[in-house]
Amino acid sequence: MKREMEIVVSGIRSTGNLHLGNYFGAIKNFLKMQKENKCYFFIADYHALTTHPKPNDLHGNIRQVMAEYLACGIDPEIATVFIQSDVPEVTELYLLLNMNAYVGELERTTSFKEKIRNQPDNINAGLLTYPVLMAADIIIHKANKVPVGKDQEQHLEMTRRFARRFNMMYEVDYFPLPDAYNFGKKLIKIPGLDGTGKMGKSEGNGIFLADTPQEIRKKVMRAVTDTGPSEPNQKPSEPVKNLFTIMKVVSDPSTVKYFTDKHATCEIRYGEMKKQLAEDIIRFTEPIRVRINEIVADRKYMAKVVSEGAAKARESASATIREVREIIGYKTF
Ligand code: TRP
Repeated sequence: MKREMEIVVSGIRSTGNLHLGNYFGAIKNFLKMQKENKCYFFIADYHALTTHPKPNDLHGNIRQVMAEYLACGIDPEIATVFIQSDVPEVTELYLLLNMNAYVGELERTTSFKEKIRNQPDNINAGLLTYPVLMAADIIIHKANKVPVGKDQEQHLEMTRRFARRFNMMYEVDYFPLPDAYNFGKKLIKIPGLDGTGKMGKSEGNGIFLADTPQEIRKKVMRAVTDTGPSEPNQKPSEPVKNLFTIMKVVSDPSTVKYFTDKHATCEIRYGEMKKQLAEDIIRFTEPIRVRINEIVADRKYMAKVVSEGAAKARESASATIREVREIIGYKTF
């Protein structure tokens, strides 16, 4: 008998361009998951409103992020790829779940407490109920697995709690309890170019998939290194180790070996290593960048992907809403 495919849901915020860290940390795994599961990947553009973007920025960001995901190989023929705001059913489930989400538990959420600290002038109710909307996103498709980073694990725990609470309250076994799915050891953390920490969105530290070859060369050549090893077989310092980490994912193993050996014998020239690294990054990102630009320019293709994705997502979402309304007691006359 054919095993039922597990349902995977993951939302992607429409802020900022994707960088190498996003690619090797998350997207690569999405590409694998889409083959083995029934996947729903969406752009969380309702969530994006908590920071009050300008209308043109909101739309531009959604387009760009959508194009970047498609360019990486997220395949709308096999996964359901859609935009959250195209599925208004999710807002209905959000409203219904809000009735059983308690202000106390929402106020205690780590991400909310961080927002209070970081943006004290904009503590809107949307921020408070952010985990409820996220829960609605997930359970509306009856997800089993949600691939997210560590920073989202508490939200996932709350999703399970809201789903369980619904089931208990109405004495039904309706919503599956989804698990956070992270790729454990397989998840590669890509470091930044500034010597410490992981790749982020700050200028100079990250390499974006949409960066031009010139930008990439400039960024890599400016990367932090050290004054060079002073004795044979010395352990590389953190900034140099970071360059090796990036090299390992984009370069040929023989290239990595060449520079590792040169480091061990104190003959390494970081300028040469960076030149090679820049070219290898470009070799990897250039086809993606070209594809991003093609997709962004192809309005017809984007429109088709978005409308087909919305239709598939709404089919699943509206079936859930129909059942949920019935369970809650909204019956037809
Ligand atoms: N909160 C997630 C983030 O910031 C984005 C998100 C919204 C999400 N809804 C989701 C992730 C549902 C997974 C499932 O990254």
